Order: sequence, then C-alpha cells, then structure tokens
Amino acid sequence: MSKPLRVGIAGLGTVGAGVIDMLTRNADLIEARCARKIEVVAVSARSRNRDRGIDLGNYDWYDDCAELARAAEIDVFVELIGGEDGPAKAAVEAALGAGRHVVTANKAMLAYHGTELAHLAESTSVALNYEAAVAGGIPIVKTMRESFAGNRAERIYGILNGTCNYILTCMERDRADFAGVLKDAQDLGYAEADPTFDIGGFDAAHKLAILTSLAFGTEIDFGSVYVEGIENITAQDIQVAGELGYKIKLLGVALETDTGIEQRVHPTLVPAGSPIADVDGVFNAVAVTGDFLGDLMIEGQGAGAGATASSVVADIVDIAMGRIMPPLGRPASSLKPYTPARMRAHEGGYYVALDVHDRPGAFAEIAQRMAEQNISLKSIVQRGSNLGVDIDTDLRQEPGETRSVVLITHDTLEKSIRDALSSIEKDGAITATPRMVRIERL
Ligand code: HSE
Repeated sequence: MSKPLRVGIAGLGTVGAGVIDMLTRNADLIEARCARKIEVVAVSARSRNRDRGIDLGNYDWYDDCAELARAAEIDVFVELIGGEDGPAKAAVEAALGAGRHVVTANKAMLAYHGTELAHLAESTSVALNYEAAVAGGIPIVKTMRESFAGNRAERIYGILNGTCNYILTCMERDRADFAGVLKDAQDLGYAEADPTFDIGGFDAAHKLAILTSLAFGTEIDFGSVYVEGIENITAQDIQVAGELGYKIKLLGVALETDTGIEQRVHPTLVPAGSPIADVDGVFNAVAVTGDFLGDLMIEGQGAGAGATASSVVADIVDIAMGRIMPPLGRPASSLKPYTPARMRAHEGGYYVALDVHDRPGAFAEIAQRMAEQNISLKSIVQRGSNLGVDIDTDLRQEPGETRSVVLITHDTLEKSIRDALSSIEKDGAITATPRMVRIERL
C-alpha cells in the first residue's frame, strides 16, 4: 500500500469541521477506495480555542496559514479561509510555489485569480482542485473537466445561489414580498446578516465565471459578467409570470454568440415544467448542453457542511489516486482570451412590467414605442384584472387610475427593449421606472 497522503487544512469553520468529520468517520472506505490512507496532520485557523466539536489535539497547529501551506510535513494544502485576496491567496500561492497540491472552496479567489493560479499550479506540476467552489456538493467541475471532454459547449447555465432560490421559492409559495421573505430567511439562518453578496447576484457570478472557462476554454474573466440581483422582483411579478406559464429564477448563463461569449446573472423567466424550473428551495442546479452529449442537468445541495465537505474530500481523493488534471480542464497556456459579447446585443424574450397612467392614449403611446423598435408583443396582462388577456382583447379600465400592465415580447434585442423603455419613460405615460426580466429559451 502507498504511503499515507498528508493533508493540512487552513480554515476550520463549518466546512473545515465537515471535512475532518468525513475523513474521520469514513476513513475505512476512503482508504479502501484509494488504496492508501488520507491523514490530516496539521491545521490552521484564526482562533485555536474556539469549540468546533472536534479534537484538534491530534494535529500540528500553525498560527500562520502560509507557513502551513509550505510545510514539508504536508502533501496537500486545503484552503477553506475564503476571500479573493489576503491570507487565502497568499497561502495558496505559497503552497503551489512549494510544490504542494491545493484543494480550495474559494470561488471569489478563483473568479479573480483563477487563470494565474492555474498557470502557477501547472508550473510546479501540482493539482489545484476546487469542486466545492462551484455549487457546493454538485460535481460539475469534475463533469466539465472529465466527462464533457469530447464536447463543444453550446451553453452552460444554472441556479448557483441557494439563498436566492430559497427566497424566490418562498415568495412564490407564500405570495409574499421580497423584504419579508428575506427577513424570515435571515432569522432561519438561510441568508447572511449582510445578504448583499448573495441577493445581488455576485456569489453566483463568481461561480459562473469559473464555469464559463471550463465550458468554453477561455481565461476566467469575472469583470465581464453582467450582474443583476433579485431585490426588485415582486410577488406580483412571480404570480403573473406563473399565470403566463413561467417561473422566476436567478440564473447564471454563459453562451457563445457570433460576437463573443455572454456571461450574465439575472432574474430569469424559465418555462414552468422545464427541469430547471422545478429546482426549488436552497437547492442548486447546473445544466450544460454539449454538441454530442445534448442536455445534462445536475441538481444538489449548493452549500452546507456535508455537501461541501463531500466535494473537498473527492478532490483530495483524486490527488491520493494520482489523478492530477490541468485546473481549468486544458493546459493554462492554451486558454483563449475571453471575448465578451455586448449585453445590448443579447437577444431573447422580455417580461416588462409598467405602471401606466389610465388616460386616453397612454397605452397607444407604449405600443407605438415598442413598434418603433420593431418589438413584437406576444401577450399583454393587466394586473389585478383578468390575467392572461390576449393582445387583441380590449383592455377596459376605469378612468383616472394607474394600471399595472405586463408585456411579454417575442425575441428582440436588448438594445431595442432598453431604447423603447427609455422613450416610454420620457413620454410620461408611466408612473414608475419600468421593470424588465429576461426570458431564457429552454
Ligand atoms: N451563499 C451561497 C448560497 C453558498 O446561498 O448558495 C456559498 O456560495
């Protein structure tokens, strides 16, 4: 039997404790699968004395995580500190530079520095594994680096943030508004006290930037991801979308177009009954289309000690068995520069919600502005009235009121819809800023 694989772990929060628990409780079966033992030999964290429910007496302690990263007594450095720069990045660079394999769950660090770290790992012929960084327990990195290897990607998309999916699911189920559901989610521990990062779409954008590279063989370019969060979605949007046969999800989508690659995170109308529409609660899912594979979707837990530890341990097992891959699925030197597609060139259907003055001609002005941009309307819904009114049906209203109207467009350019909405605002036919939600063709 080979020598034990010696592991050092930096960061002993929920995930770090979960990794130690899994490696301890499932030690026998992991050893049988690897034909060698995996031993945690050393750890590092901010506080030595905090009660984590694990006995740290068995491990060497390092105050400095970078010192642990270079220590001769380890073969693998597991980085569970987090943060795009700072101690996490310094320690990972120290480990890779010293020829230690690295396993990390740090999506922010990879979104900003993944390409450069991949070069560094390859220069010292070590692994940089990061399954836990993208959708927690879902094995999408392994799928893209290995199982997808013969395919040309057409599109990759997913529900990449459990907090947002939980909030949208509750808003739909309880017909409740965003603010109240967010407060409940915070009370239950499903949302952070400062939820900006999750609900603003930035966490999902980090994960999408990594997936884009794996799918399209490009350098990681987080700065080019178009990001919108879920904070402006209302319970009525969700209800009207439902009446029209859609659900609203926060999707991350990467897609190759004629002008470059679109990377976008935003609330999205997806057809009810499509596999992604049925992913509810805190669950994540990633779907990818390959030219030979066709469609594949993997659903699972995107966060939590058990699911995330499962991915970290799988990455360690790969190293124990000598399965060392180029981090981004191809030699870093062969990654293509990322060419962004302009968001204004995005083409798709749109859901548009307008609060319209109930005065003669108001609706005609709106229709005129849409027609000027060559936008074809698929349906018109007057909220609080008969939902699902056909475009040819007369919209009878009481005079002197504001009416909420939802338009669903056929496929059009983002530039066209933005220009039409800007003209509609200037015309003064509406009483509030229009809201638009993109529709994804699935
Ligand atoms: N906060 C994330 C989520 C999990 O809500 O899905 C870690 O990325």
